[in-house]
Amino acid sequence: MSITAHTLLDVAKAAAGFAHAPYSGFGVGAALLLEDGEIISGCNFENASYGLTLCAETVALATANAQGKLRKVREIAIIGGKLLGGDITGSDPVRPCGRCRQVINEAGGLSGHDIVIHCGSADGSAVERHTLSSLLPHAFGPADLGLV
Ligand code: THU
Repeated sequence: MSITAHTLLDVAKAAAGFAHAPYSGFGVGAALLLEDGEIISGCNFENASYGLTLCAETVALATANAQGKLRKVREIAIIGGKLLGGDITGSDPVRPCGRCRQVINEAGGLSGHDIVIHCGSADGSAVERHTLSSLLPHAFGPADLGLV
């Protein structure tokens, strides 16, 4: 795959600029790299009824699904930070929340790939490379339902 983690994180950072996060003030962007090089992005989408908030990764994955491309997802970049003037700020990498890890597992399960997860900080000072299996060992999946 020719697209670097840096490129993917740049796309995720641009998406974070569209975050609807008036309640937390914390913007998150996610960018999915598909097997053919296409990139699909998403950002967090908060709600006045706090619990209805959608995370950036889930939005991006739901978008890929709506385009029939969920099984093509191979890598994900995630970046986030406190929103200041429409930009995210901060030096800490953002790692996917537990719910998003489970949602990512749904994509990986379709293709049998252990999805690579790049976690970046808004200021570019930190980048971590993980795999879903390292972030969500012993995941619940179709096998637990007796489906595979
Ligand atoms: N958030 C994400 O978008 N992805 C994560 O993996 C962690 C948290 C969002 C949800 C909420 O809008 C804000 O970050 C603060 O929790």
